[in-house]
Amino acid sequence: MASTGSTPFPKWQLAILLGAPLAIGLGYLYMRSRFEDPEKKKVAELKAKTTISLDNEDNAKAAESAIDRAMKLKAAGNRAFHAGEYDKAIELYNDAIEACPSERAVDLATFYQNRSACYEKREMWEQVKEDCTFALKLNEKYVKAYLRRSRAAEKSGDLVLALEDVTSACILERFQVQSSLVNADRILKALGRQHAREALDKRDPVMPSKHFIKTYFSAFSEDPIAKVNVDANETCGFANAKKALEVQDYDSVVKACTEEIDAEGKYKYEALLLRATFYLLLGRHEEAHIDLANVITSDAPTKIRVNALIKRASLFTQLENTEKCLEDFSTAAQLDPDNSDIYHHRGQVYLLLERMDEATSEFAKAVELNPNFSIAYIQKCYADYRHAQLHKNIGALTTVRADFERALELFPRCADAYILYAQVLSDQQEWGRAEALFDAALAVDPNNATLYVHKGLVQLQKSTDFDKAVKLINKAIDMDDKCDFAYETLGTIEVQRGNLRRSLELFEKAIRLAKTELEMTHLFSLKDAAAAQLKVSERWGLDWTVS
Ligand SMILES: *[C@@H]1O[C@H](CO)[C@@H](O)[C@H](O)[C@H]1NC(C)=O
Ligand SMILES: *[C@@H]1O[C@H](CO)[C@@H](O)[C@H](O)[C@H]1NC(C)=O
Ligand SMILES: *[C@@H]1O[C@H](CO)[C@@H](O)[C@H](O)[C@H]1NC(C)=O
Ligand SMILES: *[C@@H]1O[C@H](CO)[C@@H](O)[C@H](O)[C@H]1NC(C)=O
Repeated sequence: MASTGSTPFPKWQLAILLGAPLAIGLGYLYMRSRFEDPEKKKVAELKAKTTISLDNEDNAKAAESAIDRAMKLKAAGNRAFHAGEYDKAIELYNDAIEACPSERAVDLATFYQNRSACYEKREMWEQVKEDCTFALKLNEKYVKAYLRRSRAAEKSGDLVLALEDVTSACILERFQVQSSLVNADRILKALGRQHAREALDKRDPVMPSKHFIKTYFSAFSEDPIAKVNVDANETCGFANAKKALEVQDYDSVVKACTEEIDAEGKYKYEALLLRATFYLLLGRHEEAHIDLANVITSDAPTKIRVNALIKRASLFTQLENTEKCLEDFSTAAQLDPDNSDIYHHRGQVYLLLERMDEATSEFAKAVELNPNFSIAYIQKCYADYRHAQLHKNIGALTTVRADFERALELFPRCADAYILYAQVLSDQQEWGRAEALFDAALAVDPNNATLYVHKGLVQLQKSTDFDKAVKLINKAIDMDDKCDFAYETLGTIEVQRGNLRRSLELFEKAIRLAKTELEMTHLFSLKDAAAAQLKVSERWGLDWTVS
């Protein structure tokens, strides 16, 4: 499977729920608090372990003058560096390295590290990495060297090393330095994306579940394909495709559409749009792009072109090309300014981009144009909530709650209304009310395993009772062993409990079930963060597990 354009509820939810918008934040958040524990001492000890004494009295004097000379060369190197004379500085640091007695490991590490600064200015990444590696061999707790090697590794495309090094630095800095955390997060996103692409390339296209496809189509209130009425006695390719859609025989759709397109039939544009939609659902991005572009540049009716533009915009979001994505939305809005789908989907993109002001006004417009569209209505409520929260606007919070209450009245069968409102309430620490809402959602949608995951999350926020939460989430897996949200959540719980190895297995399971590229990128980021933390912890003998 793979990228499916916009899904009604993307996976930013979990991160928001746990209060950590950054993927790496999940583990770090907890580890940070663990530094108040004995582990804190361990890192302090590790940091202190780097003073080296002279053990040979006889050589002490000679060494002293040698180190003096090296220090002078270094000082000259620093002056040259600050004057922007990097080649000269490199020469001086070379001399300092040569002059430095080998037992002065920490000083020697500094000189290598100094020389790597010059190479960094010259953008000579291999040399930067090499010198930092020397420095780290001599002083394994050298934060600056980790950070610099991480930058060089990132620049030269070695994201695994970049992540490992920035993780080492974050641990040594006790997660207190914001810039390192931000760097870690950026590297994680890029690495997650890279791993997601690699995994998708290897994966055979798999049709998503029937439920997923149904939900996908339900996110469009003005779906031009649903609106075409094909006479019952018609036998063309598109008629067959429509029939296949109706009976959920999704594997036949692409072939039937291709027949219509090849025959240049009367529904060729509808067929192109529908085929593109299934290419999207199957993660066949390139083919989806070609079909969508053909629809968009054709003389097909406006609603068809607009729907193609919305889908292509979502595809651009998946590929993180925000500019092109917004361009398509804006073209769509010019063509069909009263089409609520445009604003609803653009709102989702803004939500993902954390552009809350724009997100709220998009959803408001979508609802204004189509007040009966439950998904848009509820997303509007939720976006309004995030907006109010961001601006600490108490009055707006009250309004949002009234809006949610109204949503429950308007759409009593819509599980998502209960779920998002419950999330809002648990954010506000109204646990009892939130739990009651999840139970109400279960009454509406009793086979929905993700509801137990949500209940587990409330449990976790309410009492940090890991065992109780895990029990609820395991219930979700018993109901549906393909519930990726359950594996993802369990994985993050194990990170928080310090069981990094177990978390890796769980993230792996979630990745195998992931449906969209965004979701996969997010999951790989979580897994890569845990893997890097595990590696560094093992190297230094740090143990994070909750005893
Ligand atoms: C060289 O290392 C010293 C000690 O860490 C530092 O104060 C100085 O700024 C470094 N110089 C350069 C050019 O990085
Ligand atoms: C299909 O049936 C309609 C009446 O329901 C008729 O007018 C039309 O000519 C038929 N078309 C074909 C292709 O048989
Ligand atoms: C919304 O639904 C109500 C009742 O089903 C209906 O009367 C009204 O016309 C609908 N509004 C729109 C904009 O579709
Ligand atoms: C379960 O509820 C969630 C709400 O978070 C919804 O998005 C999802 O489609 C539902 N799944 C099933 C299988 O009904």
